[in-house]
Formats: sequence, structure tokens, C-alpha cells
Amino acid sequence: MVYLGDKLLYHNIVPCRGLFILVVMSLVSIFCFKVAISVSFTAPSSVSTEGLEAEGILKWRHSLDNQNQTLMSSWVGNSPCNWTGIACNECRSITNISLSRTGLRGTLYAFSFSSFPSLLSLNLSQNLLYGNIPSSLSNLSKLIYLDLATNQLFGRIPSEIGLLTSLNVLNLDENHMNESIPNEIGSLRSLKVLRLGESSLTGPIPASIWSLGNLTFLFLGSNQLSGTVPQEVLDQLHLQFNNLTGPIPASIGNLANLTVLALLNNTFYGSIPSSLGNLTKLTWLDIQQNQLSGLIPPELGKLTLLFKLGLFLNNLNGSIPGELNNLTNLQNLGVSSNMLSGYLPQEICNGGLLVNFTANDNYFIGSILKSFRNCSSLYRVRLDRNRLTGNISKDLGVYPHELY
Ligand SMILES: *[C@@H]1O[C@H](CO)[C@@H](O)[C@H](O)[C@H]1NC(C)=O
Ligand SMILES: *[C@@H]1O[C@H](CO)[C@@H](O)[C@H](O)[C@H]1NC(C)=O
Ligand SMILES: *[C@@H]1O[C@H](CO)[C@@H](O)[C@H](O)[C@H]1NC(C)=O
Ligand SMILES: *[C@@H]1O[C@H](CO)[C@@H](O)[C@H](O)[C@H]1NC(C)=O
Ligand SMILES: *[C@@H]1O[C@H](CO)[C@@H](O)[C@H](O)[C@H]1NC(C)=O
Ligand SMILES: *[C@@H]1O[C@H](CO)[C@@H](O)[C@H](O)[C@H]1NC(C)=O
Ligand SMILES: *[C@@H]1O[C@H](CO)[C@@H](O)[C@H](O)[C@H]1NC(C)=O
Ligand SMILES: *[C@@H]1O[C@H](CO)[C@@H](O)[C@H](O)[C@H]1NC(C)=O
Ligand SMILES: *[C@@H]1O[C@H](CO)[C@@H](O)[C@H](O)[C@H]1NC(C)=O
Ligand SMILES: *[C@@H]1O[C@H](CO)[C@@H](O)[C@H](O)[C@H]1NC(C)=O
Ligand SMILES: *[C@@H]1O[C@H](CO)[C@@H](O)[C@H](O)[C@H]1NC(C)=O
Ligand SMILES: *[C@@H]1O[C@H](CO)[C@@H](O)[C@H](O)[C@H]1NC(C)=O
Repeated sequence: MVYLGDKLLYHNIVPCRGLFILVVMSLVSIFCFKVAISVSFTAPSSVSTEGLEAEGILKWRHSLDNQNQTLMSSWVGNSPCNWTGIACNECRSITNISLSRTGLRGTLYAFSFSSFPSLLSLNLSQNLLYGNIPSSLSNLSKLIYLDLATNQLFGRIPSEIGLLTSLNVLNLDENHMNESIPNEIGSLRSLKVLRLGESSLTGPIPASIWSLGNLTFLFLGSNQLSGTVPQEVLDQLHLQFNNLTGPIPASIGNLANLTVLALLNNTFYGSIPSSLGNLTKLTWLDIQQNQLSGLIPPELGKLTLLFKLGLFLNNLNGSIPGELNNLTNLQNLGVSSNMLSGYLPQEICNGGLLVNFTANDNYFIGSILKSFRNCSSLYRVRLDRNRLTGNISKDLGVYPHELY
């Protein structure tokens, strides 16, 4: 019997999709309930995978401090597949647990991860879960999506997380993971989206992250990460609000697919690499609040899809290159609090989209009027503490709603 089952298993990769259920109901049970097969030798009665999984999830439920009674009212009996927030495969084994934003409070300690061998997606985001992330999480060997964001989990990210090699999305944003990022994250070769932002992570970014060839979205913003940034291969790079230092590597210009580069509020120093001009898919370039110095590279004028360019609060000098007039999609340009001089760009409103322009606290000269003809889109302008002539509110007409 078991032999036959195994044999058929080899010939039917996904046997429970078969429509021979009526004919060989008991065989289908064998295909689906592999666990049950081994159990049935000693206890041939009725321990099903479904029953074991129900037991596993109810055990966790009972461990919680606070349960959502509305949600849990469907959680009775031993058929979890039609419980709210649970989905199963054809074999009635749980594949999805989606309990985001359901007011759950408690720990993950009683969650017996090894009870859910088919789980593909675990979403417990936006609850009040606390305590450590158990290393036994690694038993979810098929897991593709793991979202524990916006809870109060703390401690270290278990290094065993590196065993979840099928993961495409890992989101631990907004917790209190207050140690360094484990090197083992670099074993997650299938990872496309990695979000570890707004936690309390410290230490350097493990070099292994930069070799994750499938990664397109990396959000590590608002932590206490330190160290430097090597060359990497990504579409979106969010490293803002950390304590990263050193020069912005010129090799960043090789990330031809980058659409967002957010490095603001770190301590990057040195000049802005002109190779940034190669990142022609960028829509958002924010390197404000660092210690960057030197000239604004005219190559930035090649980034014609940019709608946000943040250079505010650095030590940049020289004038704003005329090439920036080519940025006709620009909505938000901030160059305040640098040491910039010369005239304000005369055609910066050419695109007709500029909403915010802040250039206060520099050494700009010339007439305000000349710079802002036909700037009807402007909403917010700051030009104070420069060497400009003219009256800001009079010369700009009625358009801007906020002036300083
Ligand atoms: C869930 O499924 C079981 C068995 O398939 C059925 O008896 C029960 O009524 C269902 N419960 C709900 C809430 O649909
Ligand atoms: C299971 O989760 C995945 C990923 O979040 C989702 O794409 C899929 O639609 C979910 N399936 C069910 C039945 O909820
Ligand atoms: C309980 O769960 C339901 C269904 O997911 C959700 O709509 C509701 O907001 C939750 N209640 C609380 C208090 O979180
Ligand atoms: C988890 O659920 C939330 C709320 O439904 C959703 O916004 C988020 O995309 C889900 N996460 C994943 C990884 O599917
Ligand atoms: C679950 O994971 C832990 C930690 O990785 C491991 O020691 C244990 O053997 C696993 N249990 C099962 C049943 O796979
Ligand atoms: C991308 O993911 C696939 C599927 O998991 C994997 O086989 C491949 O090695 C990964 N590519 C890289 C460059 O890591
Ligand atoms: C940032 O790094 C500097 C130099 O290593 C250190 O003195 C400072 O305390 C760090 N700041 C934070 C907020 O971690
Ligand atoms: C950019 O994306 C294209 C298409 O997805 C891919 O073929 C190419 O290798 C990527 N380039 C880089 C530098 O990541
Ligand atoms: C920049 O980051 C530091 C440390 O994270 C923080 O103390 C400071 O308030 C931030 N500055 C701004 C303007 O957000
Ligand atoms: C990238 O930018 C640098 C500096 O501006 C330039 O020398 C180089 O030719 C560019 N590379 C490509 C592939 O466009
Ligand atoms: C960008 O601006 C420069 C100088 O203002 C100009 O010579 C050049 O033709 C412009 N390039 C494009 C692609 O519009
Ligand atoms: C303009 O600045 C205001 C205030 O900082 C901000 O709320 C708004 O989103 C900005 N608009 C654009 C288009 O960047």
C-alpha cells in the first residue's frame, strides 16, 4: 500500500490535483497526508495533517494575551482551512496564514512552526507581537512571504533565518531588532524585497547582502547602521537615517536600474559622484543631510525622470549647473544650507511642475524676479539668507502659498 503510494507519487508530481478522487479516495489521502501514513501504522484511526495543523495553530492562539474574538469565532473544530485568515492547498494543508492588523497581542514562542510544512505565506504584520523571533521559524522550509512588520518584536534576527531559502519577501520593518543584521541573510538567494527598516539595527550592513542577485528593493532606513556602502545590484536603495559614512561609491553609477536612491541623513562625505548621471531611471535622488562637498555635477541634468532632488544641508559650493534646467519633471528641489553661489537657475520652472524650491542659506546673487517668471506651479519657496535682490512676495506674484 505504501509502496504503491510512493510509486504513484513519483508519477504524479502534484497528485492531489488529480480528479480520481472518487475512484481512489483512500489513495488521495495517502498522497496528501504523508504524515498520516507513518502514523497509521501504529494508530490507523484518523490523525490527519489537517487535524495536526489545527492543533498547532490553536495552541498558539491559546498562548496569546489578547485575541480578536470576532476573528477567532470561526476558529473552532479541526478543519482550519475555512477559518478566517487561513488558506490551504488541495491537500487541506495550510499554505497561508494572514492575520495582519487583527489586534493580536502575545509572543511567537508557542507557534510550532514545524507543524506547518506547506506554509508559503505568513503575515502577522501590524499586531502587538513581542518577544524574540524564535529560531524554529526556520522550519517553514517552503515559506515565500514572511511579514512580521510593525510589531514589537525585539532582540536579534535569528541566524537560522538563512535557512528559509525560498523567501521572496522578508519584511521586519518597525520592530525593535536591536542587534546587527546576521550574515546569514546573504543565504536568501531568492529574496527580492528585504525590509529591515525603522527597527533598531546596529553594526555594519553584511557584505553578503550586496551579492543577493534577485534583490530589487532594499529598505534599511532609520536604523543605527554604520560602515560604508559597497557596490551592489538593486532597483531601490533606501539607506536613509543611519550612520553610514565614507564617500558615496562612484560604482553606484553601475546600478542602471535604480529608481530610488535615498541616502539622506547619514554622514557620507566627499564629492557627489558624477556617475550618478548614468542612473537615468532615477525618479528620486535624495542625498540631503550629509557632509558632501564640492560642486553639483552637471551630469545630474541627465536624470530627466527625477521628480525629487534633495541636496539640502551639505557643504556643496559653486553654482547650480545650467544642466539642471533639463530636469523638466522636477517637483521638489532642495539646495538649502550649502555654500552655493552664483545665480539661481533661470529656467528651473521650464517643466511647469516645480512645487517646492528651497535655496535658503546660501550665497546666491541676482534678481528673484528673473528666476521665477512663469513659475505658476510653485507652492513652497524659501530664498531667505542669500544675496538676492528684489522682494520675494512682490516679485513672485500671487503664486506661491508659502514664502520664507
Ligand atoms: C468549515 O468546513 C467544515 C467541513 O468542511 C464545515 O462543516 C463547516 O461548516 C465550515 N465552517 C464554515 C464557517 O464555513
Ligand atoms: C497566499 O499568500 C500569497 C502571498 O501573500 C498571496 O499571493 C495569495 O493570494 C494568498 N492566497 C490565499 C488563498 O489567500
Ligand atoms: C479583528 O479581526 C477583524 C478581521 O480581520 C478585523 O477587521 C478587526 O479590525 C479586528 N479587530 C481588532 C480589535 O483588531
Ligand atoms: C501583509 O498584509 C498586509 C495587510 O493586508 C499587506 O499590506 C501586506 O502587503 C502583506 N504582506 C505580504 C508580504 O504579502
Ligand atoms: C526546527 O528548527 C530548529 C531550529 O532551527 C531545529 O533545531 C529543529 O530541529 C527544527 N525542528 C523540526 C521538527 O524540524
Ligand atoms: C535568484 O533566485 C533563483 C530562484 O530561487 C535562484 O535559483 C537564483 O540562483 C537566484 N539568483 C541569484 C543571482 O542569486
Ligand atoms: C555615528 O558614528 C559616530 C562615529 O563613529 C559616533 O560618534 C556617533 O555616536 C554615531 N551616532 C549614532 C547616532 O549612532
Ligand atoms: C536592469 O534590468 C534589466 C531587465 O530586468 C536586466 O536585464 C539588467 O541586467 C539590469 N541591469 C542591472 C545593472 O541590474
Ligand atoms: C538625522 O539623524 C539623526 C540620527 O538618526 C537624528 O538624531 C536627527 O534628528 C536626524 N535629523 C533630521 C533633520 O531628521
Ligand atoms: C558613467 O558615468 C561616468 C562619469 O560621469 C562616465 O565616465 C561613464 O562613461 C558612464 N558610464 C556609462 C556606462 O554610461
Ligand atoms: C541640457 O542642458 C545643457 C546646458 O543647459 C544643454 O546644452 C543640453 O543640450 C541639454 N541637454 C538635453 C538632453 O536637453
Ligand atoms: C512640498 O513640501 C511640502 C512641505 O515640506 C511637502 O509636504 C510636499 O509633499 C512637497 N511637495 C512635493 C511635490 O514634493
